Amino acid sequence: MDIDFVRSRFIKHFDGTTGAIYTSPGRINLIGEHTDYNGGYVFPGAVDKGITAEIKPNGTDKVHAYSIDLKDYVEFGLNEEDAPKASWARYIFGVCREMIKRGVDVKGFNTAFAGDVPLGAGMSSSAALESTFAFALNEIFGDNKIDKFELAKVGQATEHNYCGVNCGIMDQFASVFGKEGHLMRLDCRSLEYKYYPFRPEGYRLVLVDSVVKHELASSAYNKRRQSCENVVAAIKKNHPEIEFLRDCNMDMLNEVKETVSQEDYMRAEYVIEEIQRVLDVCDALERNDYETVGQKMYETHHGMSKLYEVSCEELDFLNDIAFDCGVTGSRVMGGGFGGCTINLVKNELYETFITTAKERFKKKFGRSPKVYDVVISDGSHRVC
Ligand code: GLA
Repeated sequence: MDIDFVRSRFIKHFDGTTGAIYTSPGRINLIGEHTDYNGGYVFPGAVDKGITAEIKPNGTDKVHAYSIDLKDYVEFGLNEEDAPKASWARYIFGVCREMIKRGVDVKGFNTAFAGDVPLGAGMSSSAALESTFAFALNEIFGDNKIDKFELAKVGQATEHNYCGVNCGIMDQFASVFGKEGHLMRLDCRSLEYKYYPFRPEGYRLVLVDSVVKHELASSAYNKRRQSCENVVAAIKKNHPEIEFLRDCNMDMLNEVKETVSQEDYMRAEYVIEEIQRVLDVCDALERNDYETVGQKMYETHHGMSKLYEVSCEELDFLNDIAFDCGVTGSRVMGGGFGGCTINLVKNELYETFITTAKERFKKKFGRSPKVYDVVISDGSHRVC
């Protein structure tokens, strides 16, 4: 993101003075989708695209926020009843409230922010926005007393309490904890994590964006989560010790096959298999076995499409093209219902794959998909 651009807008929009500039990235996820809220593993990394904000306390009890991209300006107070209507401003308001709930004495500030993480592409632009403000407010008003995990939880709680999405912790974790050249395996039950250097020699990671944005994504997402909880409740009757689908195996799931709906069964089957796939991919990476990594990515796509049912025609089509071109691994990335596929491609196949994907997609859907090369980058930080 061009820092000078954000600064020039901040100066123009407010009183000519400058504040501090903070940035947080969007994320990719190699494997482990819809596993976070099931206590399972995820394997994300931060990207070189994100949200950048200039922020300066303004001596009042109001936030004056300017979205440079939307050219929209909103003012709001910091009490619970002051929630703004504009959805972009609710993220900032939610972060302020969650920080206040954690004892940070947030006061009024001026801010202008912009982003280059594509909206609705499944790269977590909203987590980037939340993490930017959580990180900044902690530094500006909180003496950095909130630890990094709690900052990620501030973003997650903002989604739950102010934006209506019962998301897991993956996106905010990746945005806050990202490290250049590294993926992170997070155990979402214990919150233990490990950095994995990721520079696959001879391969590239590329995102192909279907540019499909699903209108009902948040209610469909919450419904998936509910299915998982229904199955856990059913299994708990025989196995009171279990807390998440992470704690279950296929035998336990089959014990309740007749008591849960067919749909809930399929959702749980996908999750149990997906959690194992993350571990398999980690093992394969230790051996530099990218063929296995790719194979698991295709299996994830199949599960997300046929069992979890969060793919769509355009994403299935992109996945088929990848397979036809001999791409090593490909799958829908993020929550689904639109957005990108993530593809592990041999260097020598890259050009053919991208050209073919663009041509065939355009022929079928009348528009070109977008393509983003993945550059794995650092998490939230102050720029200046
Ligand atoms: C969204 C959510 C995450 C995670 C993914 C699916 O990005 O915000 O918590 O559940 O979907 O893996």
